[in-house]
Amino acid sequence: MSDHYCVLGNPVEHSKSPLIHQRFGEQTGQEIVYTAELAPLDGFVATWRAFCEGGGRGANVTVPFKEQAFALCDTLSERARRAGAVNTLINGQNGRVYGDNTDGVGLLRDLDAHHIPLKGVRILVLGAGGAVRGVLAPLLERGPREVVIINRTGAKAAALARDFADLGAVVGGGYDALEGPFDLVINGTSASLAGELPPLPEALFTPGGFAYDMMYAAEPTVFLRWAQDHGATPVDGLGMLVEQAAEAFFLWRRVRPDTGPVRALLRRALT
Ligand code: ATR
Repeated sequence: MSDHYCVLGNPVEHSKSPLIHQRFGEQTGQEIVYTAELAPLDGFVATWRAFCEGGGRGANVTVPFKEQAFALCDTLSERARRAGAVNTLINGQNGRVYGDNTDGVGLLRDLDAHHIPLKGVRILVLGAGGAVRGVLAPLLERGPREVVIINRTGAKAAALARDFADLGAVVGGGYDALEGPFDLVINGTSASLAGELPPLPEALFTPGGFAYDMMYAAEPTVFLRWAQDHGATPVDGLGMLVEQAAEAFFLWRRVRPDTGPVRALLRRALT
């Protein structure tokens, strides 16, 4: 019988994870079944436990349950502990639950795939929610000159910067403290979802700078359009989605899928 995995979320019906993992399974000859499971907003843990009782082996976790997934784990990876959030669950021996977070490595693999340098550069991260918390440690480990976190609620960015200060040069504040230029600007806010643009200064990018939006959509986000108009090379978060999935697949199956064809497939499916 095929091993069963799923993505747990709310909403979850538009998730691309089933398509991605089914392709990974076919490509690597792994017999898996991967489904999207809608968990009620007040029933995440019950949905996970029912999935495990039915023989489920592991799950990806998406909005808004990553912190609840973190709380239910018996064992956490170091990167999940730092992130304070879990996006990959493994139903282990004797009902023990292992949690990991592959979002950060997913972002880094995608930045590498686009040949975006990180060592010695100045990086701006917009937002201070769960998405940003998950990627700060891996970014800082690459040795940038400085990471500046800017958030609408400036105190949240300052607190986040304090939490990660042991890993490198990181400062945080509100948009009034924002002073460019930056070699790379990463949008980790949910503003793109609402079609909104955070208040950004004209001179945001260094010449040859990059703009990365952790969101993706059929059309470039308002942030990426603005960035391109201001001289940056725009990159959306589709590659990050595929790369974080590949890392989760590796944790479950110990086989690394080839992400290139799956990125191309998703890009075609979007247009
Ligand atoms: P996620 O888990 O996806 O990070 P979140 O925790 O709700 O979601 O965080 C959303 C982030 O987007 C926050 O940093 C939020 O800023 P606040 O902390 O001030 O709420 C930011 N955000 C949402 N809409 C925004 C907008 N229109 N302009 C700027 N920042 C916005």
